[in-house]
Amino acid sequence: MDVEVKRASKSYHSSGGKAVEALSAIDLTISSGEFVCLLGPSGCGKSTLLKLIAGIETASSGAVICAGEVVVGPSTGRGFIFQDYSLFPWLTVRQNIAFGLQRGKGTKREKRELAEHYIRLFELEEAAGLYPKQLSGGMSQRVAIARALCLQPKLLLMDEPFAALDAMLRQKLQEELVRIWQRENATFVFVTHDVEEAIFLADRIIVMSPRPGAVSAIVPVQLPRPRERTDAAFVELRASVLRLLHERQSSIAQ
Ligand SMILES: Nc1ncnc2c1ncn2[C@@H]1O[C@H](COP(=O)(O)OP(=O)(O)O)[C@@H](O)[C@H]1O
Ligand SMILES: [Mg+2]
Repeated sequence: MDVEVKRASKSYHSSGGKAVEALSAIDLTISSGEFVCLLGPSGCGKSTLLKLIAGIETASSGAVICAGEVVVGPSTGRGFIFQDYSLFPWLTVRQNIAFGLQRGKGTKREKRELAEHYIRLFELEEAAGLYPKQLSGGMSQRVAIARALCLQPKLLLMDEPFAALDAMLRQKLQEELVRIWQRENATFVFVTHDVEEAIFLADRIIVMSPRPGAVSAIVPVQLPRPRERTDAAFVELRASVLRLLHERQSSIAQ
């Protein structure tokens, strides 16, 4: 699914009544099948942009167009994964993963098989009967991704899904995510404030800057996959993206 963001702006009204311009006239095109990362410091509008694409928030002006249709609200074709997993605490892992399938097409048996497929893919067989409070952070996040993928979205939007995880687990899930993306043939949009994570994952990095939120640079990542964080080209790109972020920050501070 391709995405076109056209001159999209978003202002929020704070409790004091003052308007906060979270995004200002964003133009962005994402191709079908692309893996894009939105990168930038806290407050630059990454979550807001993702929510506009998801249809969870509406633009104050401008528009978002997905697969030729103007986005007017959420849809199962556009999956969303939040930072805090947001699993249903009263449902087991298996029930959480199958949850969204209830209203969809297909027989009961087909739905059960689809859910089992993702349970196996994420190695959650042994945890399938457990409740969210019995899971570690990494496992909860695997359930959240499995639940989103179960609906077979053409577009998967992820808001810092690994931010709360320790470094080792984070790397493991990053590798898993790239493999899933290669297999599923879907468009992935992934928000992060971590330069290394963005370079490891993305085909293209959309660098954003705050006050108001804007796209400050677009960096193509042409390193072959699987990527190695210690490769000279990786390290070099990391330094240049960091430089880009700092330049932007210091020009705002002046
Ligand atoms: N619901 C909201 N009400 C008021 N201001 C908001 C709301 N959501 C976000 N903002 C403000 O909009 C700006 C961008 O926020 P956000 O999109 O969350 O950025 P990021 O995800 O990059 O940290 C920030 O200044 C934030 O305080
Ligand atoms: Mg955010």
